[in-house]
Amino acid sequence: MTMPSHAGTLSFFNDLHPPKSRFQDDVLEGLSRPQKSIPPKHFYDARGSALFDDITDTEDYYVTRTELGILDAIAGEIAAKAGSGAVVIEPGSGSSVKIDKLLNALDRAAAYIGLDISKEHLISACEDLAARYDGLSVGAICADFTQPVPLEDLPIPDGKRLVFFPGSTIGNFEPGGAKALLETIRGWLRPGDALLIGADRVKSADILENAYDDASGVTAAFNLNLLTRINRELNGTIETDAFDHKAVWTSDAARVEMHLVAKRDTEFSVSGQTFRMSAGETIHTENSHKFSIERFTALAASAGLVVKQDWSDARGYFTLYWLERA
Ligand code: AVJ
Repeated sequence: MTMPSHAGTLSFFNDLHPPKSRFQDDVLEGLSRPQKSIPPKHFYDARGSALFDDITDTEDYYVTRTELGILDAIAGEIAAKAGSGAVVIEPGSGSSVKIDKLLNALDRAAAYIGLDISKEHLISACEDLAARYDGLSVGAICADFTQPVPLEDLPIPDGKRLVFFPGSTIGNFEPGGAKALLETIRGWLRPGDALLIGADRVKSADILENAYDDASGVTAAFNLNLLTRINRELNGTIETDAFDHKAVWTSDAARVEMHLVAKRDTEFSVSGQTFRMSAGETIHTENSHKFSIERFTALAASAGLVVKQDWSDARGYFTLYWLERA
C-alpha cells in the first residue's frame, strides 16, 4: 500500500483493545502439534503483505481480478440497493482498490467505518480514505472481529448499513469459525441493512491448485516467507531451503490447503525450543475454503442471514452475495 500524501481527519476512533496477535505463542503451539500448523494471519508482515499484492497480479490467481470485474459490472445495482447516504462498515479494512470501487459506485455514502485488529494499519488506511473522499465521515474501530464486537455502544452515524467483506476472506475460516463470524456481522445489521460478501467458488482441482501455486512462484515465496519471519522475529534457525511449498485441493473439506513440506529430515529451534521434522512432514499454513452457491447460502442461513441477491462472473469462478437478516 502506498503512503497517503497527507492524512485526513477521522471523525472517531475507538480502541476496543483487542489482545495483541500472539505470534510467538501461535508458532510454538502450532509446531508442537502432531500435524504442525500456523494460522494464516501471520503471513502478513510487511514482506508478506507485499507478496500478497504480487499474488493478485499473477495470471494464475484469478480471485482478486474476478471479484473486481463483478464489482464493476454490478456498481449500478449496488448503488440502487444501498440507496443514498449509506454507512459502509469494513471488517479487516483491506484493499483500497476494492473500497474505492464500492464508494465510487454508491450514491454519496454518508460514512465509512474501518474495523481492524492492527491499529497502525487501520489508522493509516482510514486516514487515507478521509483525505481522498471529501465529505465522507470516516471512523475507525480497533477490534478483533473474530470475537464478538458490540457496535451498539459505538458512535456509528445514522443511515442504512452496508457491511463489506470482499476477497473470500471468509474462506480462511473453518466452518464453525465462518458461521461465528457471520453471526457477529449479523449482530451489526438492523432490518434493511446488508452484508456484501465475496466468496470463491468450487471449480476444477487444476485451476484451484494453480491459483495457490502460481507459475511464477510468488505464492511459494509468500508461504516460505513465514519461515523467514519466524527466523527474524522469534530467533529461529529454520533452514528455509529445507522446505517446499505445496498447495492441494481437498475435495472432502472443499478447500485448498497450503503446506510447507520438509524436503529432508531437519532440526531447528524457535525461541529456544527445539523441533524436528522428518522428510515429507508438513507445516499446514492455510485453508482457503471454496463454496458452491448452495453451500454458501446454507452457511449464511445457519447464521441467520438470507441471500437476497447474488452475482457471479461469466465463468462462475466467484460470487458476490447481498445478505440481510433472515
Ligand atoms: C486473502 C485469504 C483470501 O485464501 O485466497 C492467496 C490468501 N493465500 N494465495 C486466499 C492467499 C495464498 C487469500 N485470502
